[in-house]
Amino acid sequence: MPSLQQFDVSFMEDRQVTSNPRLDLLGLINGFQITQAIHVASVLRVADHLKDGARRVDELAVLTKSHADSLYRLLRALAAVGVFHEDEGRAFALTPKGECLRTDSAASIGAWAEVVGTPYYWQAWGHLLHSVQTGENAFRSLNGQDVWQFRAEHPEHGATFDRAMTEHSRASAEAVIRAYDFSSFGHVVDVGGGQGLLLSAILRAHPHVRGTLFDQANVVTRARAVLTEGGVVERCDIVGGSFFEAVPGDGDAYVMRMVVHDWEDDEALAILKVCRRAMGQTAKLLLIERLVAPPNEMPATKFSDLNMLVSPGGRERTREEFSDLLARSGFALTAVLPAGLHNVIEARPL
Ligand SMILES: C[S@@+](CC[C@H](N)C(=O)[O-])C[C@H]1O[C@@H](n2cnc3c(N)ncnc32)[C@H](O)[C@@H]1O
Repeated sequence: MPSLQQFDVSFMEDRQVTSNPRLDLLGLINGFQITQAIHVASVLRVADHLKDGARRVDELAVLTKSHADSLYRLLRALAAVGVFHEDEGRAFALTPKGECLRTDSAASIGAWAEVVGTPYYWQAWGHLLHSVQTGENAFRSLNGQDVWQFRAEHPEHGATFDRAMTEHSRASAEAVIRAYDFSSFGHVVDVGGGQGLLLSAILRAHPHVRGTLFDQANVVTRARAVLTEGGVVERCDIVGGSFFEAVPGDGDAYVMRMVVHDWEDDEALAILKVCRRAMGQTAKLLLIERLVAPPNEMPATKFSDLNMLVSPGGRERTREEFSDLLARSGFALTAVLPAGLHNVIEARPL
């Protein structure tokens, strides 16, 4: 798992860093081209076709049902930024970065590449100016519904997003388990837990713990396979519903990973109060979130914050902002434990 600093360096790594500020800025301006190029390679599953070794572009074009010369132009551009390696005779091989686009890799982030270049997602970013000028969520103002309703109505996009979240969780679950001791709990409820990858990892690490996975009904229908693969499905209830109405009771720990950041304060408070109502006095709340850093540091978190502004309609927060939100919803922040890119923010009911 890279450290935060490594991650932030690698966030910038693909941009040209020269002694010429104008050229450096040009690299940043044109960053969108790389995003869309990786998106297309990911949708076409190019990395999967290269897992057994290099292939010529003609062969890849047949396998991906693509136009050979245009595919060549795509792959040579991506080879120039280190995603693939171009060999003699228009052949391409995987690099360590390209390996992370393989759908069968434990380090895969290919589903995320698929999500971010998809028109519905891309268009919301295209309305960043609207959000900055009005404070409104770009996705909602463009589509007349929030991104969760959109995904519920377009299951193909919902499934890709859930896969992307599972990939994210897979990469960080070990860090969360190392950072926080779940062994004192008997029942862990994962609220907004997606397909249950994190809950599965917690249950695997602690065979005496049982779990409840809670998320929207259309999302939890895709969770059973992940929990079965983790060997924990017998110890886990799967419950569909909305965290604006009620969440399952009887938990000793309520985990929410990358949930609160999806919402502005009013909605975040509403979700936290629903959790508080379900929790006994000795239960713990565990938010797994990024923390906004001091000025001029950590672009990944600050761009994630912009992503929250345009897409789900939320925000990344500082430690103080979390502490305030928790106090206003009936909790006291008790600890913040760094866990890879995220932090485990522990709170207890007041
Ligand atoms: C950013 S994802 C995080 C998923 C998972 N916790 C993870 O870290 O991989 C936010 C989750 O909140 C869920 N969600 C959104 N609105 C919800 C609602 N009203 N009730 C329950 N879950 C909801 C989404 O379905 C999604 O799985």
